[in-house]
Amino acid sequence: MLNDASLDLLNVDLADPTLHVEDRVNEVFRTLRAHHPVVWNESRNEPGFWSVTRHADCIRVQKDFHSFGSVQTNVLGPHRVLGDLGAGKMLNATDPPRHTELRALVKNCFAPPQIAALAPYVRGVVTEVLDLALAEGECDFVGVIAMLPVAAISALLGVPRQDWPLMSRLTTSAAGSFDVEYQDNTTARITAARAHAQLLLYCRQLVEQRRHQPGQDVISLLISAHAANMLTEEEVFLFFDLLMLSANETTRHAATGAILALICHPKEWRRLRDDPDLVPSAVQEVLRWVSPSRHVLRRAKREVALHDRTIRAGEDIVIWNVSANRDERVFSTPDVFDVGRQPNPHLSFGSGSHVCLGSLLATLELRVFLEEFLRRVVAAELLAPVARLRSPIISGLKHLHVRLHPA
Ligand code: HEM
Repeated sequence: MLNDASLDLLNVDLADPTLHVEDRVNEVFRTLRAHHPVVWNESRNEPGFWSVTRHADCIRVQKDFHSFGSVQTNVLGPHRVLGDLGAGKMLNATDPPRHTELRALVKNCFAPPQIAALAPYVRGVVTEVLDLALAEGECDFVGVIAMLPVAAISALLGVPRQDWPLMSRLTTSAAGSFDVEYQDNTTARITAARAHAQLLLYCRQLVEQRRHQPGQDVISLLISAHAANMLTEEEVFLFFDLLMLSANETTRHAATGAILALICHPKEWRRLRDDPDLVPSAVQEVLRWVSPSRHVLRRAKREVALHDRTIRAGEDIVIWNVSANRDERVFSTPDVFDVGRQPNPHLSFGSGSHVCLGSLLATLELRVFLEEFLRRVVAAELLAPVARLRSPIISGLKHLHVRLHPA
């Protein structure tokens, strides 16, 4: 519950996964931005935390790594108390200087020339995905599109095609475990822990193979870094876990969210079809609209005053980028889906030193996906109500049953 009297009336707990599948969540964030830009959230399920919801504050907190650290973990969930396996070891759960060293190891693999070189491969995968969806006529697009991000990240990590379904299943269990549909007859935490353990074990096998047959992939590069004492073996496995999970459990939701947005906004779909030059801005608008990563979390390293509140050292602060993306101080029509929106300074990829490492890869996948979708699909119908993922972390769909009509 939020401890402010007026917010008690709203009766909300931002850590509650159910809140985020309810329509009122946008109204809650609007109220917070307007009246309570920094607010303490006393949660039923986990320790309390501060929330920031305005665009400028979200940027400020993410950029100030001297005051707000990432070492403990970077999202809500029980690992805040019980401990995160990657704390202090995994790129997203480190602070400079270790963070800078880890990022420097891989950043060239995600740089513009390397990602641009993947474009023909990504187009081939998108073609295959759309061939399948159009051949089936009716499909659950969430399942069909899963192949795109896993194929893209696997090209960089050197994961063979026969293992893509396993990778998708494991990352979905790890990231979606707040939702009972993805819990394997146990709790969210145990489901996620098992999935992470399997990803780490998978990587151990991959490392063994790659030691005998090094390639041009990221895993071979990390093995060399291990040999040069720049990484422990555990850190190699954790890197793999992070890259596979971050790549799969975000872009997939952006792509399905794009289809849903176009179905719900037929004028915007026509506008985009008539002017494909709008695809790059449409990609940015989809990212803003869907905001696949709802929040990131930091822990205060020292006392900091923010608006009229004092955040004490050791307290957690949740940065709701999903709310920043609808901040009326920055976006003139925040609740309008506008494929031509310019400028569009959304925070879907975060901000500051931890800004998404894979943003160019995700943008490439989404651009090619939209280009091919517009070329090959003239209409789409929703065949069932959309099923949203119950999660305070990820904004996405579990199912999107659609009938696609070919051009
Ligand atoms: C639409 C797709 C994506 C979204 C919305 C997204 C979102 C984000 C956000 C918000 C962060 C910041 C985390 C923080 O500040 O704690 C982040 C970091 C990260 N993302 Fe993405 N991401 C996407 C795609 C990808 C892809 C395709 C990869 C594949 C490599 C990737 C890899 C990473 C990594 C490794 C980090 C950690 C960076 C660091 O801590 O320095 N992401 N992402």
